[in-house]
Amino acid sequence: MTNKPTLKIYKDRDADLKHLRGIPIAIIGYGSQGRAQALNLRDSGLQIIIGLPKKSNSIKTARKDGFEVYPSDEAVKLGEIISVLAPDHQHKKIYNEHMKKNLSAGKTLLFACGFSIHFRLVLPPKDVDVIMVAPHAPGEMMRKFFLEKKGVPCFFAVQQNYSGKGKKKALAYAKAIGCTKAGAIQTTFRDEAIGDLFGEQAVLCGGLTELLKVGFEVLVESGLSPENAYLECVHQLDFIVDTIKSHGIAGMFDRISKTAEYGSYQAGKRVIDDRVRKEMEKILKEIEDGSFVKTWMKECETGMKNYLKMKRMTSKHPIERTSKRIRDLMK
Ligand SMILES: NC(=O)c1ccc[n+]([C@@H]2O[C@H](COP(=O)([O-])OP(=O)(O)OC[C@H]3O[C@@H](n4cnc5c(N)ncnc54)[C@H](OP(=O)(O)O)[C@@H]3O)[C@@H](O)[C@H]2O)c1
Repeated sequence: MTNKPTLKIYKDRDADLKHLRGIPIAIIGYGSQGRAQALNLRDSGLQIIIGLPKKSNSIKTARKDGFEVYPSDEAVKLGEIISVLAPDHQHKKIYNEHMKKNLSAGKTLLFACGFSIHFRLVLPPKDVDVIMVAPHAPGEMMRKFFLEKKGVPCFFAVQQNYSGKGKKKALAYAKAIGCTKAGAIQTTFRDEAIGDLFGEQAVLCGGLTELLKVGFEVLVESGLSPENAYLECVHQLDFIVDTIKSHGIAGMFDRISKTAEYGSYQAGKRVIDDRVRKEMEKILKEIEDGSFVKTWMKECETGMKNYLKMKRMTSKHPIERTSKRIRDLMK
């Protein structure tokens, strides 16, 4: 296994808000990231407007938070920096229908993820900057950390540098939303898009949840009560994750019993064996060659039947009932 050299971490001292002061920033979308970023940017003294569809459910929230809200087309016309914070699977449609014709030379398109640009769902003209600031946390957490004067880390990248100031603008934006307090790491749209999809699918969301469910099922099928199985396989996850984040994997093993540690060394390798590694490599290939995105976009354009079926199956799994029972019991 080869490692790339360690990347530089940019902090508050490396970023200057002067590159954004007095420049209107249009935030397109007012969900998890849109709301948190808009509030943080405004608290950092920047000039923010919000762009939303005319019938959007988010208009009320944005107005209540004191922002001026415009239809997306209008917001793109008024903004110099256009921060695209609507869901990724809708970027292609939003860009083609509302943004493309309103983007004039010298504006900046800013994304919180490399997805749409890397997979060419959005094809910006040559005479705009295209930059990314991708926070490593949901919006709600980013806002909370900002208010506590902490900040969450982020990736940033410059794909198109028409003005020659793309990096300075990206770093200033990262500072204004609080990310350079924790650290901003430079990457590319490609690496962010591929890494993000792979991490969430194979490890953090897809892989992990299947591991939890199978562990739960095996214990229940062996005769343990669902509550017992849940407490053993799922409930202590936050302790393990927090310990790994604070002390590393070896440090986590130092903090559990020797029996747990010895058993984990031999069983872990049997559960996550070469077959799993091969499947992960296959998943990565499907992400890299664009076939995952092609299938997902087709799903979005044809009524999301498979997506909705899998969503229903997930919420009907017995582990969900058990999880709710445990949560209720522990209230
Ligand atoms: N969430 C995270 O943890 C996270 C972390 C890092 C980066 N990101 C990135 O941040 C971006 C936004 O993600 P998110 O999770 O914040 O999305 P989200 O919460 O799902 O965004 C929903 C918002 O987008 C609005 N919207 C829907 N269609 C729109 C349209 N046609 N035009 C304008 N606005 C529209 C929605 O309005 P309605 O109320 O009308 O539906 C709502 O305000 C994505 O690129 C994502 O990859 C997310």
